[in-house]
Amino acid sequence: MRARLDQIREQVQAQIKSCDTADKLNEIRVAVLGKKGQLTELLKSMKDVAPEERPKVGQMVNEARAEIERVLEEQKTRMEKALREARMKAEVIDVTLPARKAELGHRHPNTIALEEVERIFVGMGYEVVEGPEVERDYYNFEALNIPADHPAKDEQDTFFVTGDILLRTQTSGVQVHEMEKGKLPIRMIAPGRVFRADEVDATHSPSFHQIEGLVIDKNITFADLKGTLAQFSRELFGENTKVKFRPHHFPFTEPSAEMDVSCFKCGGRGCRFCKGSGWIEILGCGMVHPHVLEMSNIDPEEYTGFAFGVGLERIALLKYEIDDMRLLYENDIRFLRQF
Ligand code: DAH
Repeated sequence: MRARLDQIREQVQAQIKSCDTADKLNEIRVAVLGKKGQLTELLKSMKDVAPEERPKVGQMVNEARAEIERVLEEQKTRMEKALREARMKAEVIDVTLPARKAELGHRHPNTIALEEVERIFVGMGYEVVEGPEVERDYYNFEALNIPADHPAKDEQDTFFVTGDILLRTQTSGVQVHEMEKGKLPIRMIAPGRVFRADEVDATHSPSFHQIEGLVIDKNITFADLKGTLAQFSRELFGENTKVKFRPHHFPFTEPSAEMDVSCFKCGGRGCRFCKGSGWIEILGCGMVHPHVLEMSNIDPEEYTGFAFGVGLERIALLKYEIDDMRLLYENDIRFLRQF
């Protein structure tokens, strides 16, 4: 019996040592220790052993079983380690390779300026809205008190799609869309792209951006307009900025004005930047014309309002001291990187 036991043990140990997969290892385990395994079979022949010998033989078998289990476990650990090492070798990472540099984009000066303007007006409780770039004549002209034969219509050289449909020449049409919604009061700004049949030069482009502003409520006066735009100018150009309103004419406002800000470069003394005048023209504005309110079903006896229109590029050029508008459209990364 002892001889048989030693034989099984040696044979199994040899098998285990040459084993190289987990499946084969398991097969060996079953063949030796399983229900019909060699050791189990051996135990069955216990009945042939003299009763006084049985405890001794039983102990021998148990020792053999324990040893085989230990060897199986060792082999399993060894195989797992080898597998892990092989994988580590295959997955080697060369940490000395230079990292791939993530190129960061740059926000466009227009975007920076727009976000700044939006921040200021949102801080004053305004909503930011948008309107369509392709407009009907009614929204771009007629409802803004610019009738078919009005000379202002020629001033804004328009790209027509059909007789009645055009690319908007100004964001002022968004005023009409908002008023038509019939929800009062209104406090909104409307940034967006506009189009005019202009030649490209340092100060003109066939496509540029405006920011429209509109406030409609009871008891809105020119004082509200002045206070609001003065505060806007101080936040945008610095707290010492002064504003000045010059009478002007727009068909959709009465009275109308153009607003200048004191030159933020020289503080108003006069320099190359403000062409010696100390002032820089910024925007057009005025009290919404009663006829414009009426056309959009707002009672001018009950409600009044003010409006303004700013050129976004103009703000960006001034704020970042860019002297040619074309730079804003070429998207030369060497230029954009500076902002
Ligand atoms: N829409 C005008 C333009 O394109 C700018 C403007 C002036 C807008 C006065 C207004 C305003 O809302 O009140 O020149």
